[in-house]
Formats: sequence, structure tokens, C-alpha cells
Amino acid sequence: MKILLIGANGQLGSDLVRARWPSNDELIPLTHRDMDICEPVGVSETLHRHAPDVVINTAAYHKVDECEVNVERAFAVNVYGVRNLALACRETGCALLHMSTDYVFGADATRRTPYVETDIPGPINVYGISKLAGEYFVRYILDRYWIVRSSGLYGVAGSSGKGGNFVELMLRLAREGKDIKVVDDQTLSPTYTADLARKIVELVHTEHYGLYHVTSAGACTWYQFACKIFELTGLSPNVAPTTTAAFGAIATRPAYSVLQNAALAALGMDDMRPWEEALAAYLREKGHVT
Ligand SMILES: NC(=O)c1ccc[n+]([C@@H]2O[C@H](COP(=O)([O-])OP(=O)(O)OC[C@H]3O[C@@H](n4cnc5c(N)ncnc54)[C@H](OP(=O)(O)O)[C@@H]3O)[C@@H](O)[C@H]2O)c1
Repeated sequence: MKILLIGANGQLGSDLVRARWPSNDELIPLTHRDMDICEPVGVSETLHRHAPDVVINTAAYHKVDECEVNVERAFAVNVYGVRNLALACRETGCALLHMSTDYVFGADATRRTPYVETDIPGPINVYGISKLAGEYFVRYILDRYWIVRSSGLYGVAGSSGKGGNFVELMLRLAREGKDIKVVDDQTLSPTYTADLARKIVELVHTEHYGLYHVTSAGACTWYQFACKIFELTGLSPNVAPTTTAAFGAIATRPAYSVLQNAALAALGMDDMRPWEEALAAYLREKGHVT
């Protein structure tokens, strides 16, 4: 199988490059410099040139606060860019695995049970709206697609879009002896990109097309996540919980966006480990703990 990977030097993209692929697969990793998904002609030419069986799209504009201000760019990448890709996939007859987000949810402020794939989305920020619109273009244009929603990604490469990841930020602040305040009223399932990449490799070798939630098992607030990082690394900084309101970010964020891997479970494919175990594996991989 020939797989074209878009966003290959991003956080998830890097772990997809490092993932264990069947030996007869050919992975073609493309970075932003190789192809801009916002350029329809280039996208079409690239797909015709490589003629892949599957395209994996990890590219996105996902600086959530910036998206509120730079709505045009959010839509250019997350909506029209995704449409360009889906159209080129249809032209060349290949399947598309497209990454989406837990931030397609949030409108139900009272929700405290995990979202399954059949739940009606309701985004509450520009980023979430743009990602949901991208999903709809994929579903509208293609029959053979996997849309994978995940949450709170962290990986060895760090997010190129966000300049690092939450775990590294917490460790840096702790080592610098800073007072740390972390929001304790947003609950999610942080997910290690190496685990997500492994599941994506499995999915693209099936013909089980459709919408999937793929996150680590369990859930925590960002504050609880930070406390676990410090516990596992033996650091004891001055860390305190705060509220979303006090933190005062530009974009509204869901109070609860925990995803349940229901579609994977229905296929007997949900072996995603608890987030605490995945975090410990990441910290070992990065050399933060032995
Ligand atoms: N990070 C999270 O917490 C999170 C949570 C849920 C879902 N997701 C979704 O998961 C996916 C992967 O996230 P990630 O953290 O791995 O992101 P990332 O590290 O920022 O990687 C995204 C990659 O896409 C490339 N890219 C951006 N715009 C592009 C364009 N117009 N054309 C081609 N390539 C472009 C970036 O290259 P440059 O940096 O060179 O522009 C980067 O290599 C995204 O779809 C995101 O929406 C992320």
C-alpha cells in the first residue's frame, strides 16, 4: 500500500513516520514545504504524481486563540485546504484519513459524559467550527474516508503549530522555578501521538470507513494532567488550579470534551491505554524519567 502523509514533520506526523508500518507499505512523507493544502492545483498535481492508495492529513491551523482573530486563515487551511485534498482524493480514487478534534464539541455546557461518534457536534470557537466544516467536506466529497477525532495531543516532536506541547511547557516552567497556574475546569483525554499513530496505521489497513474517536482512556483536567507530570518526574513546583475565566484566553474552550472510542470498541480495536500510562511512556521516551 502506498501512503501519502501530509504534515510529516508535525507532532502526529513525526510519530506516523516513526510508526511500525507493514514492510510492503511505501510511506511518502510530505511537509508544508513540499505541498501546501491551500493550493488546489499543487494538491491535485501532487496526488496525481504519487498516485497513493491512502492520504493521511495531519495538517491544520490549530492555534485556538489565533483562529478567533485570523478566521480567514483558519478556514483557508481547515476547511478549503481539506476540501482541496478531498477533491484530489476523489479525482485520483484514493482514500483519505483526516484528523479532527474534540473541539467540535462544547456547546452543551452541562455535559459530563463522554461523547460518542453519533453525538451531534456543537463547536464553541472558530477552530472547532472550521474543523467541523472540514469534516463535513470530507464526508460530502468522499465515500472512502476515516475521520479521526482526538484530543490534547503531545508527542516527542512537539507541535510545530504551537511550538512544543503542554508536557514540555510544564516541565520547563517547573525547572525555571516559576509559579504555575493551570485550568482545572476543562476536562479532556490527553493523548500521546505515538499511540494515536499506531491506531491510524491499523485503521488505514481496514475498509472500516467512517468517523472515529481515538484518545487515551480516562480523562482529567489540565491541572490534574500537570500534577501527574510533576508526580511522575519527581518535581514539586508551586502549582495551583485556576479557572478558565481567570486564565482569560481569547477563545472559549469546552468545559468537557472527553471522547469515547465507541466506534473502535465496536470493531474490537479499542486498546488505547490509560492516559497516565501513555504519559509515563512519553516521559521515558523523552528521557525525563528512566
Ligand atoms: N495538537 C492538539 O492538541 C490536537 C488535538 C486534537 C486534534 N488535533 C488535530 O490533529 C492534527 C495534528 O496535530 P499536531 O499537533 O500534530 O499538529 P502540528 O504539530 O502543528 O502539525 C501540523 C503539520 O501540518 C503542517 N501544515 C500546516 N498548514 C499546512 C498547509 N497549509 N499545508 C501543508 N501542511 C501544513 C505543519 O507544517 P508547518 O508547521 O511547517 O506549517 C505541521 O507540520 C491536526 O489536524 C489537529 O487539528 C490536534
